[in-house]
Amino acid sequence: MQVTRIADLSRHEGEEVGIQGWLYNKRSSGSISFLIIRDGSGFVQAVAVKAELAPEVYELCDTVTQESSLRITGIVRRDARASGGYELTLTGIEIVALAQEYPISLKEHGADFLLDHRHLWIRGPRQHAALMVRNEVIAAAEGWLRSNGFVKVDAPILTPAACEGTSTLFETDYFGEKAYLSQSGQLYAEAAAMAFGKVYVYGPTFRAEKSKTRRHLIEFWMIEPEVAYADQDDNMVIQEQFVSHIVKSCLQNRRQELTLLGRDLSALEVIEPPFPRVTYDEAVDMLHAAGFEFTWGDDFGAPHEVAISQGFNKPVFVMNYPTQAKAFYMQPMPGRPEVVKCADLLAPEGYGEIIGGSERIHDLALMEQRMKEHKMAPEAYDWYLDLRRYGTVPHSGFGMGIERTVAWITGSEHIREMIPFPRLLNRIYP
Ligand code: 4AD
Ligand code: MG
Repeated sequence: MQVTRIADLSRHEGEEVGIQGWLYNKRSSGSISFLIIRDGSGFVQAVAVKAELAPEVYELCDTVTQESSLRITGIVRRDARASGGYELTLTGIEIVALAQEYPISLKEHGADFLLDHRHLWIRGPRQHAALMVRNEVIAAAEGWLRSNGFVKVDAPILTPAACEGTSTLFETDYFGEKAYLSQSGQLYAEAAAMAFGKVYVYGPTFRAEKSKTRRHLIEFWMIEPEVAYADQDDNMVIQEQFVSHIVKSCLQNRRQELTLLGRDLSALEVIEPPFPRVTYDEAVDMLHAAGFEFTWGDDFGAPHEVAISQGFNKPVFVMNYPTQAKAFYMQPMPGRPEVVKCADLLAPEGYGEIIGGSERIHDLALMEQRMKEHKMAPEAYDWYLDLRRYGTVPHSGFGMGIERTVAWITGSEHIREMIPFPRLLNRIYP
């Protein structure tokens, strides 16, 4: 008999198949047992009818505990009411390992309890669905970049200097020297763009953020494309296509998971280029009109981002932030040095910033001046200045936070459930 994955049951309608998995849940009524089995690819209900099975087989169905590992056999039946569209009529069962009493019951648990049991919690249907969407977001993002000529270049995690300011740096000892966990692979992506033209880096990034919010992780994953000769406008066009492709892929390949999560799919179906664009100045006017007290020059907080994105049903670019609010490497606006050629992409429905991007300073003297203003140690960045010494060109890039993007696409409240093992303020277990 053929062992199949639950996700592939549709190919075996009417056949007897084997499933290797775990017991997610069970309901018994004496003469019939409903076993919900999961195998990593999905969930399926197997129906065991006492009158149709040998007594010892039914006995196992009746006594098997939650999260026991098991192999079952059964006949595949189409069932429109089932979430995957199919159920099984159970014909046999083998218990691989009987599980002890499982700590996560099907009733409600508190967030801390669930986070303490994250290694088990990820087995549950909602967590499984969100992480399957995450997997799709990553695959779609890399797929789009590769099919559009981007070369993947891996950036180091241990670095000699900051990319995004010193206030959120994780410091570590590097054989007697100070080293820092990467906040962003951008500076290395810039070097790689001068070698390969169109590149991206993808990896974990670290920010010692002291804020405990629903949108901040201490360790998160970022995908960072960087393109030589691209200007700010080129950069935004890439982002529109990139983000639209990712959403489309999720709608196409993870519809079942999005539905399970209760996502309003119609809000995702409208996501296609072009995306609306507003300047920082216009955004400040919008905030004032909405009654916010906000000083020109400050960075936006979560409530501001929610208010700005409210009028749009697609992600919105907020362009040209004040120089003082942004990182050292951003190209000033010609004729308006108090603002830079950058854009943050704010997701709709109040999910906030998912991308930060900019045109980079390519002039050596200006870059040196900025580093001085930001009190950066020039020795640590000498290699980066080389990029401005040897064949410098205008270039642009951006970084998309994977977990923020998945939170938006899945319609989830908390970014901490968008990563398998979140690192949060004061939490590094499990
Ligand atoms: O806006 P950020 O800080 O930009 C950069 O790091 C640039 N160097 C990227 C580049 O141009 N190559 O971060 C980019 C994105 C944010 O828009 C957000 O999605 C995510 O990274 N992000 C976080 N996600 C989770 N937790 C945090 N603490 C995050 N900080 C940033
Ligand atoms: Mg940002």
